[in-house]
Amino acid sequence: MNDTTGRILELLKAGGEYLSGEAIGAQLGISRSAVWKHVRDLKEAGYGIVSSPKKGYGLRAAANIPSAAEVTPHLKTRTLGRRIEYLATVDSTNRAAGELARQGAVEGTVVVADAQTAGRGRMGRQWVSPPGANLYFSVLLTPNVEPARVPQLALVAAVAVHEAIAACCPEAAALIKWPNDILVGGRKVAGILCEASMEADRVHRVILGIGINVNGASVPRELRAIATTLRSEGGQEVSRPALLGAVLNHLEPRYRSWLREGSLTGLLAYYERHSALDGRQVSAENLSGVVRGTARGITPTGELVLQTAAGALVHLLAGDVHLLPQAAPPEVRPGRRAKSTAGQGAP
Ligand code: BTN
Repeated sequence: MNDTTGRILELLKAGGEYLSGEAIGAQLGISRSAVWKHVRDLKEAGYGIVSSPKKGYGLRAAANIPSAAEVTPHLKTRTLGRRIEYLATVDSTNRAAGELARQGAVEGTVVVADAQTAGRGRMGRQWVSPPGANLYFSVLLTPNVEPARVPQLALVAAVAVHEAIAACCPEAAALIKWPNDILVGGRKVAGILCEASMEADRVHRVILGIGINVNGASVPRELRAIATTLRSEGGQEVSRPALLGAVLNHLEPRYRSWLREGSLTGLLAYYERHSALDGRQVSAENLSGVVRGTARGITPTGELVLQTAAGALVHLLAGDVHLLPQAAPPEVRPGRRAKSTAGQGAP
């Protein structure tokens, strides 16, 4: 959306039932036919605008697009999202945000796209990013911290995304899967990719890339067993601008506390209360191999603690975690007593 289109949108939002093309043109110094063309662009972008030859134009429905014009009214932040670059299509918002950072963009700059042609996931995977339904965005951060602390930001972001989903779509009972996946009913609705540029003793920048499956009626067939959307879980269309605004509103204070406190201490209680893993049998895969055990929480530095069958406590810094099927509760037959299920992870 260019500047003039954005200003026409502002006028229509403030303009009551109808605003004439002539009045809009006079305010912006453009002709009525130029106004008509901008209004056509707004309609194409999804805004519900009615036209009457006598009365002019009236805005009846805002578009569910995460552009700066739609997201900004939801923001309560000081820095995050104060610059929003909205792109209809981009290869990857993380790549685009990195480029803006190299050109001097300030902390809190957000790049958001309606669609990505080469969305990046963790572990070199692809993030499927069709248009019109979901959120794909990247937040530029420049934390003055030791490089070893950077991976903790993925957990900070996971908490903020969980808080935002809980606020905007409470019907979908979301949980956090370490380190930073958000699941509903065991399937993924959001993922976070934390990419950093740093030297041995200094962080230049961190790009927090966040993908949320929002309003798709479903996900592609090949992903259905492992992924879902907020709309299919919560039953209602979710406002993408409101959800993006909510993520930034939650991320800013979580990020500030993390910087101030020097660890994840302030969010551990929230993280563990909403963890998909606590007390569950999991298998975790990282560069050193596969570990199986019971998840016993996370540390203030963001490591996942697993208790192996032999009782050893293993701390994982990174990895891909899979929930193992829960042990079935014992069958209760008439006349027999059930065995205790304690410690078996009964549902
Ligand atoms: C994951 O694998 O779980 C992380 C997925 C992160 C996807 C988001 S979409 C916006 C941003 N741009 C990218 O290319 N990737 C992230």
